[in-house]
Amino acid sequence: MNTPFRIGVLGSGKGSNFVAIADAVAAGKIPAEIAIVLSDVENAGILAHARERKIPAQFIAPGQFRTKLDEDAERAFVAVLQNTQVDLIVLAGFMRVLKGDFLRAFAGRIVNIHPSLLPCFPGLQSWKQAIDHGVKVAGCTVHFVDAGVDSGAIIGQAAVPVLDDDTPETLHQRIHAAEHELYPRCVAALARKEISVVGRRVVWKKV
Ligand code: GRF
Repeated sequence: MNTPFRIGVLGSGKGSNFVAIADAVAAGKIPAEIAIVLSDVENAGILAHARERKIPAQFIAPGQFRTKLDEDAERAFVAVLQNTQVDLIVLAGFMRVLKGDFLRAFAGRIVNIHPSLLPCFPGLQSWKQAIDHGVKVAGCTVHFVDAGVDSGAIIGQAAVPVLDDDTPETLHQRIHAAEHELYPRCVAALARKEISVVGRRVVWKKV
């Protein structure tokens, strides 16, 4: 029998994308196992959701910086993920930028979801950036993680309308709902090895 495709999930927040992915795994829509969930925030909702589902979940102290892991923390994350033998790392609201040694350890095997149609509005509060800019279409993007901020090759995107009476909050909710459909679909394609990368272009195998 083939060994199952093993996923490690990293998150800092409430973990609704993790829940969408875990539900899709449980429903047989993603041929994989969530092997571990890690967080840099001790009381993050994502850890509670994982424990409710009996998925191993661990807090790792991030160290002294606000937006990245310090060296010890980075080593600790990498060690746990390597010992767990994960095939893919899924960032689901992980609020720290991953640096060289982490990226090298899992080259081409880290994906993220961002709440905008990249390359528009990278960085923080993209839904607010979209409202402030006045765009009529917003959305979300699943992409490979590289050394830049929200700059890796794009795996999938979903668009949502921006309505005239939207606030940043109502737009954020609509984007979040689209994420919960897009991310499991992209992770399923990765687990099924239906995705190849040609330069910056990610190609989905026709099924
Ligand atoms: C999502 O909006 C995602 O795009 C961003 O962080 C948020 C995580 O939300 N990277 P949740 O913790 O999955 O609910």
